[in-house]
Amino acid sequence: MKGFGNSTIIIPISLCFIFLIFIYHFEDVLATPPRHLCRPEQRDALLAFKNEFHFGKLHYYCELQRFDSHPKTKSWGNNSDCCSWKGITCNAQSREVVGLDLRCSGLHGRFHSNSSLQNLPFLTTLDLSFNDFYGQVPSSVGNFSHLITLRLQGNKFSGRIPSSIGNLFHLTSLYLPNNHFTGRIPTWIGNLSQLTELGLWRNNLVGEIPSSIGNLPQLTILAFWGNNLVGEIPSSIGNLSQLTDLSISRNDLVGEIPSSFGNLSKLTYFEASLNAFTGTIPFHLFTIPSLISIILSDNQLNGTLEFGNTSSPSNLESLSLGNNNFKGPIPRSISKFVNLKSLDLSPFDTQGRPVDFSIFSPLKSLQYLYLSYLNTTTTIDLYDILSYSKKLSILSLSGNHVSTTNKSSVSNPPSQQIYALYLSGCGITEFPELLRTLHGIEYLDISNNKIKGQVPAWLWTLSNMWYVNLSNNTFISFQTSKKKQGLSSVRKPLLRYLLGSNNNFTGKIPSFICELRSLETLDLSENNFKGSIPYCLGNLKSNLSHLNLRQNNLGGSLPKHIFESLRSLDVGHNQLVGKLPRSLNRFSTLEVLNVESNKINDTFPFWLGSLRKLRVLVLRSNAFHGPIHQASFPQLRIIDISHNHFDGTLPSNYFSKWTAMSSLGKNEVGSNKMYMGDTYYQDSMVLMNKGVEMELVRILKIYTAIDFSGNKFEGEIPKSIGLMKELLVLNFANNVFTGSIPSSMGNLKALESLDVSQNKLSGEIPQELGELSFLAYMNFSHNKLTGLVPGGTQFRTQNCSSFEDNMGLFGPSFDEVCRDIHTPPSHQQYETKEEDEEVISWIAAAIGFIPGISFGFTIGYILLSYKPKWWFMNPFGRNKRRWRSTPTH
Ligand SMILES: *[C@@H]1O[C@H](CO)[C@@H](O)[C@H](O)[C@H]1NC(C)=O
Ligand SMILES: *[C@@H]1O[C@H](CO)[C@@H](O)[C@H](O)[C@H]1NC(C)=O
Ligand SMILES: *[C@@H]1O[C@H](CO)[C@@H](O)[C@H](O)[C@H]1NC(C)=O
Ligand SMILES: *[C@@H]1O[C@H](CO)[C@@H](O)[C@H](O)[C@H]1NC(C)=O
Ligand SMILES: *[C@@H]1O[C@H](CO)[C@@H](O)[C@H](O)[C@H]1NC(C)=O
Ligand SMILES: *[C@@H]1O[C@H](CO)[C@@H](O)[C@H](O)[C@H]1NC(C)=O
Ligand SMILES: *[C@@H]1O[C@H](CO)[C@@H](O)[C@H](O)[C@H]1NC(C)=O
Ligand SMILES: *[C@@H]1O[C@H](CO)[C@@H](O)[C@H](O)[C@H]1NC(C)=O
Repeated sequence: MKGFGNSTIIIPISLCFIFLIFIYHFEDVLATPPRHLCRPEQRDALLAFKNEFHFGKLHYYCELQRFDSHPKTKSWGNNSDCCSWKGITCNAQSREVVGLDLRCSGLHGRFHSNSSLQNLPFLTTLDLSFNDFYGQVPSSVGNFSHLITLRLQGNKFSGRIPSSIGNLFHLTSLYLPNNHFTGRIPTWIGNLSQLTELGLWRNNLVGEIPSSIGNLPQLTILAFWGNNLVGEIPSSIGNLSQLTDLSISRNDLVGEIPSSFGNLSKLTYFEASLNAFTGTIPFHLFTIPSLISIILSDNQLNGTLEFGNTSSPSNLESLSLGNNNFKGPIPRSISKFVNLKSLDLSPFDTQGRPVDFSIFSPLKSLQYLYLSYLNTTTTIDLYDILSYSKKLSILSLSGNHVSTTNKSSVSNPPSQQIYALYLSGCGITEFPELLRTLHGIEYLDISNNKIKGQVPAWLWTLSNMWYVNLSNNTFISFQTSKKKQGLSSVRKPLLRYLLGSNNNFTGKIPSFICELRSLETLDLSENNFKGSIPYCLGNLKSNLSHLNLRQNNLGGSLPKHIFESLRSLDVGHNQLVGKLPRSLNRFSTLEVLNVESNKINDTFPFWLGSLRKLRVLVLRSNAFHGPIHQASFPQLRIIDISHNHFDGTLPSNYFSKWTAMSSLGKNEVGSNKMYMGDTYYQDSMVLMNKGVEMELVRILKIYTAIDFSGNKFEGEIPKSIGLMKELLVLNFANNVFTGSIPSSMGNLKALESLDVSQNKLSGEIPQELGELSFLAYMNFSHNKLTGLVPGGTQFRTQNCSSFEDNMGLFGPSFDEVCRDIHTPPSHQQYETKEEDEEVISWIAAAIGFIPGISFGFTIGYILLSYKPKWWFMNPFGRNKRRWRSTPTH
């Protein structure tokens, strides 16, 4: 069941669309008797066409499908009748080639405007789907004046949709999805009056949806999802009386859902999530009897929800309205949607009203029920809800008051196949016994409650469980199994995620954890565990990839010879002593190593340079000492070795091999992917940035920082620092650096925070620094600097304390900043970014960014790291937010 948490609601519907494409049409092909030989010029054209491309791998989508996927053109030869070749259909009378179906044929290459395809003028069907064609679609496609069906999906066609397609008046089916088309949806689309199907999803189309779409009276399928469309939905779409499928999710559409949609009497699937729609949903929509699915989650719909009155039975199976701004009561008439399989109302602001949960009891087919964060005073009885539908498999009640102690559960325990239960923040005080009989359960989030005492041993006998989140409770220990043999004899536990941070666990880390052989992520941070890190954790070595024991009272040294599959190891804020085990250099998968705030007494671990994946190294606040040898850390993006006893000089080429910070690599810049963690777990860390501590809630790919502060480094700052073009944070404060600040720092175009305070730096501040437009914070105080302080907005908006105690700084910027210590520079500059504070947990108030250019960049990573609280409690159907580079269909 791995990964079932990914947008279970959105994706299946989208797949439905893809399926529809295949089941529609093509019944008119392959009726050709081989009596007639095809025309020689058409045969030659086909052979020439074949030679324009080469064979490559089959499109991955074809591999997933059962239908005819193979290089059809391979069978095409000189002498046989081309009408009998694979993928070719001829007209029996005229012998013209009328159909070319080359979907899933593994063809690769650029389409040229002179393609010999143009010598097949009688084509009525052209299907080139799921190959690897690229380049523009030649405008000569408009010469196929008989064309009825045109399908080009699943290629890499780019450029605009050729306007010549607007001449193909016989077209009934036009599918161009999953390509790289740009530009607008052409207005001339409205001239193709025979169109019944129009699919343009997953391209890069921009602009508004042309209202001329309303002139296509035959249209049944309209699918534009996954583009960058803006503006309002044209109300003319409400005139498409034949429309059955309307999919416009994942665009940037605004405005209200037109009330004319209530007239779409054949509408079956309506998908418009992940846009910015506002207003209410026209209640007529809910009374359309043919409707099976309404997906409107992740918009800004508001007002009260109304389902209207209708006598006809509802066929609605899927209703997804989550993550909007609905207020008011949940309409009781929801109980008439008796065929609902999936219902998502989380969150829904009932404004503190009581909710009568029995309105959900007639929904006997429910499989997925999301009712978290309803803002209601009513306490939900978990047992009752479980009894409404025997088919329930995902239930989310997070953020509501939930009672788990129904007496009936003792005599008549619930037994259904629930596999995911979200009970985060439900005010639960005792571990719910009634879970004990839910043998199908795989995913349990019971975090953020007030559960006391022991984590029961029976929990580990729920043998399908792979995810348990116990974080933020007041557990004190894990109950040990009464059976002596321990767990492994019970059944092979499948647990992969055990998250128990921020409880009151004390004593030693229990050894039963070492028997959870499938464990991948163990987070026991922020507890009171004592003793040493158990050696037996080494038993988990083949699976364990994330180990977080931060903020405990663990002593001893880091064990050797274990954890060799780790991707992240965080043992910060403990009492560890000794040295870093040299065996760490075999942890070839390690990406994050954080040992901050311990008592580790060692020299600089230059030997970690052999870890090709190491991206984050934090040695902060230990007793590391000695010089830091010249080491190459090719992947390192964050290094914090501050507050140790390192000393010595750094050669001028010190940073020359730290390639990850000099260029992030094309595929990574601006990429939405996090480099650490997975869907269910991400690492966090704290970093000094802009003079304050900043928590990187999830360490992101594009973050880069060097913090060498609080040591005894001497000599000059290495000039090679200027190579770190992607660096965001640089801190050399509180050392004994001498000489002048290298002017090569002027190359650090991405730099946002620079601290060289409390050194013995002399000379001038390089004028080049004045050009660094992202540099929002800098601190040169307590040095021996002289001369003209550079100009530029950034310098003029600093705090005077950033320049104090130097030998003789002057200039207009300096005067402006330190003009009058009693009237500090305008505060405005520091308060422009309230949005940011919502999104990253700043431990202290963040100092602002400059408005304008740096904004987009910074917001870029912040948006990614921001997820509302309920997100984690309810990742189902939620993970596709405002970014769209999702690799799936
Ligand atoms: C078709 O004929 C040409 C020469 O006329 C020859 O080179 C080629 O191999 C033939 N192709 C096939 C598939 O028979
Ligand atoms: C078509 O044009 C391309 C360049 O635009 C050329 O390389 C190719 O040989 C031409 N093909 C034919 C069949 O003329
Ligand atoms: C819808 O159709 C009606 C009559 O068929 C027409 O009067 C109206 O203008 C159309 N609405 C839009 C928005 O195109
Ligand atoms: C539905 O019917 C009830 C009473 O039967 C009425 O109060 C309510 O206004 C009606 N709602 C709509 C939208 O027609
Ligand atoms: C580190 O260990 C050495 C001996 O190996 C000792 O002399 C030194 O005092 C220790 N440093 C700290 C800060 O404990
Ligand atoms: C576990 O729950 C806590 C509290 O709700 C949450 O902060 C944390 O992100 C969850 N852990 C994961 C890995 O989702
Ligand atoms: C600059 O650094 C000095 C010493 O490290 C510190 O006292 C001062 O507050 C810093 N200034 C700012 C604006 O952070
Ligand atoms: C300047 O920095 C000091 C120390 O960080 C702080 O106390 C003071 O409030 C800051 N002044 C302004 C205007 O931000």
